[in-house]
Amino acid sequence: MNRAVVPGTFDPITAGHVDVIQRAAQIFDEVVVCVAKSVKKNPMFDLDTRVALSTEALSHLPNVTVRCFDGLLVDCCREVDAHVVVKGLRAATDFEYEFQMTALNYQLSPDLETFFIMSPPKFMYLSSSILREMASMGGTITGFVPPCVEKALHEAFADAYADKDGSSQR
Ligand code: PNS
Repeated sequence: MNRAVVPGTFDPITAGHVDVIQRAAQIFDEVVVCVAKSVKKNPMFDLDTRVALSTEALSHLPNVTVRCFDGLLVDCCREVDAHVVVKGLRAATDFEYEFQMTALNYQLSPDLETFFIMSPPKFMYLSSSILREMASMGGTITGFVPPCVEKALHEAFADAYADKDGSSQR
């Protein structure tokens, strides 16, 4: 069984993440998407919500499962018995950070291989943070996020929209 882990904060999962995970699911027998607690990043969505949204967004992929983890990625990989980590690469700006993480993970677990999948150009500029910002200002995010995430972001910022409507009518 060729099993790979796709780790991330997924705050929230974007169409770019889904694209990378779909590609990984065509290459590996099983893909385990591991949603990191990432407390330091102060996520907008709590861990359960990020797992639920990721699970719904990936429900069309039969060989993909979603779980959460807190702690080291290498320990999570050991727990799920995966020897490959898949990461998406958007632009050169991602490389420095991924290079560091790969080197650290190699020190911690030399038998863990990191596998990079390039984002297609249409998703290269996407990030969870930029989409949260767009949604917070009422920008259109259709097509950039799975429908369940679009709904969750709209609901989360509903009060902000209501305030905006209210002030524009005054
Ligand atoms: O989507 P993100 O926020 O870029 O994902 C980053 C993530 C969660 C993959 C990374 O922060 C991670 O692997 N965290 C677990 C802690 C860890 O193992 N750190 C590296 C060795 S110190």
